[in-house]
Amino acid sequence: MKTILVKDLINHLEEEIRLEGWVKNIRFSGKLIFIIFRDGSGEAQCVVFKPDIDEEKFAIAKTLTLESSIILRGIPRKHEKIENIYEVQVKDFELVQLAINYPIAKKDHGADFLLEHRHLWLRSSKQNAILKIRHTCYFAICEYLNDNGFYRFDSPILTPNACEGSTTLFEVPYFDEGTAYLSQSGQLYLEAGIMSLGRVYDFGPVFRAEKSKTRKHLTEFWMMDAEAAYVEHEENMQIQEGLIRHVIQSVLKKNLKELEILERDIEMLKNADVPFKRMTHREAVDYLRSKGSQIGYQDDFGAVDESLLVEGLKEPLFIEKWPKEIKAFYMKRDKDNPNLVLGADLLAPEGFGEIIGGSQREDDYEILLERMKENKIEISSLEWYLDLRKYGSVPHSGFGIGLERLVAWMSGTAHIRETIPFPRMIYRIYP
Ligand code: 4AD
Ligand code: MG
Repeated sequence: MKTILVKDLINHLEEEIRLEGWVKNIRFSGKLIFIIFRDGSGEAQCVVFKPDIDEEKFAIAKTLTLESSIILRGIPRKHEKIENIYEVQVKDFELVQLAINYPIAKKDHGADFLLEHRHLWLRSSKQNAILKIRHTCYFAICEYLNDNGFYRFDSPILTPNACEGSTTLFEVPYFDEGTAYLSQSGQLYLEAGIMSLGRVYDFGPVFRAEKSKTRKHLTEFWMMDAEAAYVEHEENMQIQEGLIRHVIQSVLKKNLKELEILERDIEMLKNADVPFKRMTHREAVDYLRSKGSQIGYQDDFGAVDESLLVEGLKEPLFIEKWPKEIKAFYMKRDKDNPNLVLGADLLAPEGFGEIIGGSQREDDYEILLERMKENKIEISSLEWYLDLRKYGSVPHSGFGIGLERLVAWMSGTAHIRETIPFPRMIYRIYP
């Protein structure tokens, strides 16, 4: 007999099949037991009718509890009344393990309780749906990059220096070498990678020790950094737009069921799959000030500013050409205005915030050295990075996507802690 997945029931109607999974819900009604069965791929109603199975088995079935693990044998049928719903008529079953007093009940639990039980909370329909959307986003990103000439290039997590500024580094004692730091972004290493491979990307966990307690910050999150040789600012934005639109299309193609479980308004996603809007930092500040904000021309945007900037927009918005003082040392200066750098942040619509940070990189040795000194960066640990400007330097650009922010936007999840299996935040390291 074939063991199949719930999602494939439709291809096995009226055949005897075997399912392996868990009891998601159970209801008893005389000679009938209704089990909502789940196996990771989906959920199905399985009906145990007393005359259909062993008396002893029926007695065991009556003891089944939420989240008990079971193996079923039965026949899938179309639901008599509801379209596209399949029911399995159970012929036999095996109890794998009886779960006693599963802690997550039907009633609403507070966020703290759920986070404390994240290892179990992951099984809920909504969390399952978010994780499937994360899976789609992850592979859609890789697919787009693979199809556009980027090679996977894994950057290290233990590093001798900061990438995004030294105030938000986690320190790790490192033998006789002193202190190592957990990587904030693999970007600097990718810049070495392109000189060998042309276009590269990495995808992995990165770490930020900033004490942000917002819905958009984790201390450990997943970043995809991409970097490309002979690509300048304009083309860098085009690549990002193509990539994000590919992700939207993939989620709409593969996750309609999950989006429905999450009650995500899919029109919002469809509407975002159009050419992105653009504004310079200066235009953005002008706009915010016209709306009554006190923001200055050398200021970075906060969450409130970001939301205001995308208010009424259907599509993502690039904010480009930033004052050099508020951006990282490696960004290339704008030749038309040396006070600005050729960086762009991509803001998601609907207030999901900055999902990409990217820029053209400074490729001139002298200017980069000067920028590093201005930023009080320890030159000795970045000699290798300066070398890249000595031996065959080329114009190049890249960007980094925060996977959890992207997933939050796609799935319509307000807090990014639900978009990663085990969130790490200032006040949470368990489970
Ligand atoms: O803007 P960031 O800091 O850019 C960089 O790290 C560049 N080195 C990337 C590059 O050019 N290769 O981070 C990139 C993205 C942000 O736009 C945001 O989506 C996400 O990473 N991000 C965070 N996500 C969750 N929690 C945090 N604390 C985050 N900080 C940044
Ligand atoms: Mg940023």
